[in-house]
Amino acid sequence: MRARILSSSDSDVAIAANALRQGQLVAMPTETVYGLAGDAFNEQAVAAIFAAKERPTFDPLICHIPRASGSWISHLQQQRLVATELLSAAARQAVEQLGATFWPGPLTLVLPRQANVPDLVTSGLPTVGVRCPRHEVAQRLLSEVSAPLAAPSANRFGRISPTAASHVMAELGDRIPFIMDGGDCDIGIESTVLLVEPHGNLVLLRPGAITAAQIEQATGLPVKSSAVTASFETPVPAPGMLASHYAPRKPLHLFQPPLSMWSDRDKLAWQSHLATTHVGVLRMSATPMLPEHPRQRQVFLSRSGDAAEAARSLFAAMRALDDDPVIEEIWAELHPDTQGLAFAINDRLTKASHP
Ligand code: TXA
Ligand code: MG
Repeated sequence: MRARILSSSDSDVAIAANALRQGQLVAMPTETVYGLAGDAFNEQAVAAIFAAKERPTFDPLICHIPRASGSWISHLQQQRLVATELLSAAARQAVEQLGATFWPGPLTLVLPRQANVPDLVTSGLPTVGVRCPRHEVAQRLLSEVSAPLAAPSANRFGRISPTAASHVMAELGDRIPFIMDGGDCDIGIESTVLLVEPHGNLVLLRPGAITAAQIEQATGLPVKSSAVTASFETPVPAPGMLASHYAPRKPLHLFQPPLSMWSDRDKLAWQSHLATTHVGVLRMSATPMLPEHPRQRQVFLSRSGDAAEAARSLFAAMRALDDDPVIEEIWAELHPDTQGLAFAINDRLTKASHP
């Protein structure tokens, strides 16, 4: 089997929606990364997602929903995903505010599940991850299928998330029937994952484009980091927070100390490393300069240090260096900022560097 590429034309969206209704899988574009979608209420489709990705079944899937016209709480109830009655008034209010502020968009909320959500989707957890993506093609697909779509990133487990249809083809082209091409992803890294506990505590499980500070501002509630709360009945608070993730096949190292603090000795050590090794280097800005070297391929994710620009090309650049037959090792600069999107970029790089 080789996946058929579909466009965003009405007739191709109809083909994809039909396939999904019949339990087939479709890779779909979202504003974060491409997702491998299947009908969340069709257990065979969900099982096929795990099989195609070779994903362990202890790692739950996110369910994608179309936009709401009124209240997000009633929408989540109507989608038969969230047991909203288990949420306190404060938690319900937080969900309404988060939905109103960030949906459609790159935010996933982990909420108490309804009993009818297949165990495979939630890995048997009492919660379900829900996201309303803002990519126009994903929205059209969701409203045409009119069922929530379970969709993890469309890569093989543990590998680099795809931000273009060609990446999905490389990862899963021989395993799935359809890939919808919606162009390059706008944001480039996966959604922020936020646990909303029944009493209204908010816990950041995965950093992303929507920052903890923005969430605090929208809700007026503090956001804890998952390191602080490892509880809420889940054996692993966010299975996707596993240390090794988003990884290229080649070793990925982080510059330590950062380039801006290199001593003359560090510079010499780098030069002698290049004497024997071909390296690819992921740069967050054009300064400080790293002298050109024939065994060193530098990729500037941003020349100006702009985090949004860097996030957009992060995974494509990592993939390109991984696929470059000459390069033996990848080296990455951490983003000098520690807030917002830069924090999320550094989270992904740190995970990719884990052996
Ligand atoms: O941007 C995104 O979120 C993309 C696009 C396709 O929507 N999807 C994505 O899915 O990144 P995935 O499966 O690669 O990552 C989902 C993360 C995983 O770390 C998973 O463990 C976590 O969300 N997750 C899902 N449901 C959860 C739950 N009930 N409790 C805790 N973590 C959950
Ligand atoms: Mg993933």
